[in-house]
Amino acid sequence: MFYRPEDGHGLPHNPFNALITPRPIGWISTRDKQGCDNLAPYSFFNGVAYEPPQVMFATTSGKPDRDGMKDSASIIQETGVFCVNVVGFEMRDAMNATSAALTADEDEFLHAGLEKLDCTGINVPRVANAPAALECKMTKMVQLPGEANTVVFGEVIGVHLNDDCMTDGIFDATKYQPLARMGYRDYAKVEEVFTLKRPDD
Ligand SMILES: Cc1cc2nc3c(=O)[nH]c(=O)nc-3n(C[C@H](O)[C@H](O)[C@H](O)COP(=O)(O)O)c2cc1C
Repeated sequence: MFYRPEDGHGLPHNPFNALITPRPIGWISTRDKQGCDNLAPYSFFNGVAYEPPQVMFATTSGKPDRDGMKDSASIIQETGVFCVNVVGFEMRDAMNATSAALTADEDEFLHAGLEKLDCTGINVPRVANAPAALECKMTKMVQLPGEANTVVFGEVIGVHLNDDCMTDGIFDATKYQPLARMGYRDYAKVEEVFTLKRPDD
């Protein structure tokens, strides 16, 4: 079949995000100016540069109490900083719980029963025991076509690696089984890894 998004797909569910899989989940933590902590998963997330290391995530709709944005982007607009927590299979239910549409003054760490630690270089909480966490300074927010579509870019200025996820100096995915977003309500966990050498290696 072929469809033009502007004409509709005619299927029971929109297949779009099932076509771009698996997606890593950036579990974004922030602290607002009043000191209220926020945590939410974003699977329109990725790394976008090595030097300096940079990441992005995209927020695709707004909350009524946030003027066309979600809490994460709105807080980042205000403070300029955020942390990306890496999600392993073990934390899937807590991750999912933090996607609830809570009011701006509710703390998702408490809501999901998650322990938090402070970041090192920015005034932001991070998920204790996460496989890794990236402390970021926002560099750019870009409005995309459509209603309330915003991309947040950030430079990574600090990296936490959980020692339990290291094997001989390698950050070892098999130790925490990265959780990935598929389409619809589906997820995947990474259990098996293989290596391919580049033609030029
Ligand atoms: C696995 C997962 C991935 C998600 N990815 C996105 C995303 O990429 N963009 C988005 O706007 N919402 C995404 N959501 C929904 C947000 O997490 C949800 O709207 C959340 O309440 C936003 O929180 P905030 O207002 O505290 O930022 C995702 C939810 C889940 C469970």
